[in-house]
Amino acid sequence: MSEHLMMPAVPTTDFGMPRIGLGTYRMQGSKCFGAVTAALDAGYRHVDTALAYENEAEIGRAIEASSVDREQLFLTSKIKGYHDYLRPAKIRHETEQTLIRMGIDRLDLLLVHWWNPQSDMRATFGAMGELVADGLVDHIGVSNFSAAELEAAIAASPVPIATNQVEYHPYVDQTALLACCRQHDVVLTAYSPLAEGAVVNDETLQRIGNRYEKTAAQVALRWSLQQDGVAIIPKSATPQYMEENLAVLDFELTKTEMRQIAELDGPLWYQLNAEGGAIYEFRRMIGPYVPKQIRMRVP
Ligand SMILES: NC(=O)c1ccc[n+]([C@@H]2O[C@H](COP(=O)([O-])OP(=O)(O)OC[C@H]3O[C@@H](n4cnc5c(N)ncnc54)[C@H](OP(=O)(O)O)[C@@H]3O)[C@@H](O)[C@H]2O)c1
Repeated sequence: MSEHLMMPAVPTTDFGMPRIGLGTYRMQGSKCFGAVTAALDAGYRHVDTALAYENEAEIGRAIEASSVDREQLFLTSKIKGYHDYLRPAKIRHETEQTLIRMGIDRLDLLLVHWWNPQSDMRATFGAMGELVADGLVDHIGVSNFSAAELEAAIAASPVPIATNQVEYHPYVDQTALLACCRQHDVVLTAYSPLAEGAVVNDETLQRIGNRYEKTAAQVALRWSLQQDGVAIIPKSATPQYMEENLAVLDFELTKTEMRQIAELDGPLWYQLNAEGGAIYEFRRMIGPYVPKQIRMRVP
């Protein structure tokens, strides 16, 4: 029996999303095809993409080539948060294109990638609700939404907002946003749960990991998963890391360890990325992708 079949099954949220998924940002072409193929082999059943990642077609091809049934998979994509994209007709058109590119007839989850304050929440979420009514999408959600935006989206949407996908890891404090998500039964999906790899060399995480024969990355992922209402989507192109990132269900951090990890500061960049932080606010104005020149100036 292969090792992943002996691991505990990945738990799912109330709306059926496996709480560990594969992130696919910055993977395109054959690299993306190979990574998704390896991830499905390793036991992943949840794949996260976005129109902006330009890899939906490769993900679709990897699914088509695999022996895993579509019904066993949970597939997420995202509509871009530009004003033009948040108009009802564009939302429908882009979603139909996503389905064609991925070779599927419905998405499990469609997110608004980031909010644009110029846009009209009732129109945007009304259109998302129609996609659900028409069977193109099973669930809808949001990404990079502040607590206030999330509450406005919930009020405007005819169907439940299943998740808010935001940056969350030991170096980003999202205490207030997580409390808001829980209050409204919205799952917080943690993106960049490894701080884009920065947690790997963290001495506290390494020391805690040694107690359980786990790596620093595994401890960071376990910390997120051990919090109610949190799901994680670590990205990896490396089959060994993919397996390690699934192997976080067979140990439990103590309350003291959970607190020590929450108190880690990490690089300044990540501290400023928490909801309300300077970089977070900047990204809300320009979209989530910060120009390289600015990124390189913040340690
Ligand atoms: N909604 C949004 O605005 C948004 C923004 C950012 C990200 N996301 C989503 O979240 C996903 C994950 O975030 P991310 O890609 O920014 O970063 P991440 O998952 O925090 O980190 C990925 C990096 O960590 C490395 N890594 C993975 N597992 C490891 C392990 N077990 N040990 C050591 N290193 C490991 C990877 O290396 P290799 O790849 O070389 O294996 C890669 O360099 C994205 O891919 C995307 O799907 C969403």
